[in-house]
Amino acid sequence: KRARMVVDPDFAIGAIDDRLYGSFVEHLGRAIYGGIYEPGHPQADEMGFRRDVLELVRRLGVTIVRYPGGNFVSGYHWEDGIGPRASRPRRLELAWRSIEPNEVGVDEFAAWARKAGTRVMMAVNLGTRGIDAARHLVEYCNHPGGSHWSDLRRSHGHPEPHGIKVWCLGNEMDGPWQIGHKTAEEYGRLAAETAKAMKMVDPSLELVACGSSHSRMPTFPDWEATVLEHTYDYVDYISLHTYYGNQEDDTANFLAKSMDMDAFIDTVVATCDHVKAKRRSKKTIYLSFDEWNVWYHSHEADRQVAPWQVAPPLLEDVYTFEDALLVGLMLITLMRHADRVKIACLAQLVNVIAPIMTRTGGPAWAQTIYYPFLHASRYGRGVSLRPVIDSPRYDTRDFTDVPVVDGAAVFDPDKGTLTLFVVNRDLHERVRLECSARAFEGYRVLEHLVLEHRDLKATNTEHHPDHVVPHSGGDATVDAGVISATLPAPSWHVIRLG
Ligand code: AHR
Repeated sequence: KRARMVVDPDFAIGAIDDRLYGSFVEHLGRAIYGGIYEPGHPQADEMGFRRDVLELVRRLGVTIVRYPGGNFVSGYHWEDGIGPRASRPRRLELAWRSIEPNEVGVDEFAAWARKAGTRVMMAVNLGTRGIDAARHLVEYCNHPGGSHWSDLRRSHGHPEPHGIKVWCLGNEMDGPWQIGHKTAEEYGRLAAETAKAMKMVDPSLELVACGSSHSRMPTFPDWEATVLEHTYDYVDYISLHTYYGNQEDDTANFLAKSMDMDAFIDTVVATCDHVKAKRRSKKTIYLSFDEWNVWYHSHEADRQVAPWQVAPPLLEDVYTFEDALLVGLMLITLMRHADRVKIACLAQLVNVIAPIMTRTGGPAWAQTIYYPFLHASRYGRGVSLRPVIDSPRYDTRDFTDVPVVDGAAVFDPDKGTLTLFVVNRDLHERVRLECSARAFEGYRVLEHLVLEHRDLKATNTEHHPDHVVPHSGGDATVDAGVISATLPAPSWHVIRLG
């Protein structure tokens, strides 16, 4: 098979916001306790944070981390997690039916984020709480001092404000499973008034309103339209969440699911712009795709977990090679929407549907999905170019005209590099790719990274952590501005030129 691609710096989609490579840490399962934090572990630092996990997070280049939830946030009292640990309460955590010991709270997480070289994206509870809890948290985190909440932070040993810029106004408030679930009208009004008060405390905040929990929600996309009617003047982003699985073991169909993500983004953009037109507004609302991943492997195991434990093993998906391909395709989709999607969070980061796994008391390792994310976050910085792709296509149970070869192109004007991210979805045949990049005449191939494996279901585990890892033995060449490469079936590619 053959596929053709054309890229040109004159056809730019938009600058890639570095927050496209964000992630998410929720108080859920072993994400915090036994994940980022495990005092007594041989790798624990003076604050109890695991150095091996910090190292894997730093290497991944995660630019922003959403915290503390997720469904967890809709029942959370952030005040439980501040001050001396001995006086912090143990609470029944209703979203995941666990015990929350509150050993880690906002101050510890802000310290962890600094160590990890990342920023915090904070969520406030609009399930059981509202304006006061949210504005007090902003004051605690961001006000320099001289007021009740900021002085309390200082008294806890944090003289400098945490300076948290991006805030989520609740989580998945359209979902009946959410504590304090609301209609779009109820949520829209509460989000607008909470946003106003939060921005009164700190006008520099950037705020994210809750969009739909996924595109199959019965209220999608009316939810977005109604919420934005109420919040348009006070928020900067609307959120999107999506998870895909291969329950039917139909890999051709599974790998096409990034097309659903693409259509989801287009619909949310259209809905934002519909409200903009109705309001005769000059302001554009951007998208925060703040939960996305593959999630299905652990569903059955989770049903067996006994309630009311501290840090039970929940949502511990073990990812396969084919999952890494879909994660790569989802990253390609996000890059191709760089004009409107400014923030995206791979959900989540450690142990819970995560690229990084640990054994409590044992080692940490990288799952298969770690690698496409690492490549995108490392090399997908700059300007996303609009690729024209002419590829063979196939049909599946849920999709028609699925391109066998899909890709994104990123030009970094500072470094003068061009990077192609490409996936061959074909399960049986390799594809010969020719990419015309005439404006880049004189460029050479710096590296051609490949993630491939003969077994679609291959995984990385504690004892075989390097079973599925990329190699740099791809055969890309460039001649007179035409890049040629062989794409084995199926595979993920990063072709770097400079
Ligand atoms: O990421 C796991 C859960 O998925 C989050 O808590 C929730 O927001 C979503 O439904």
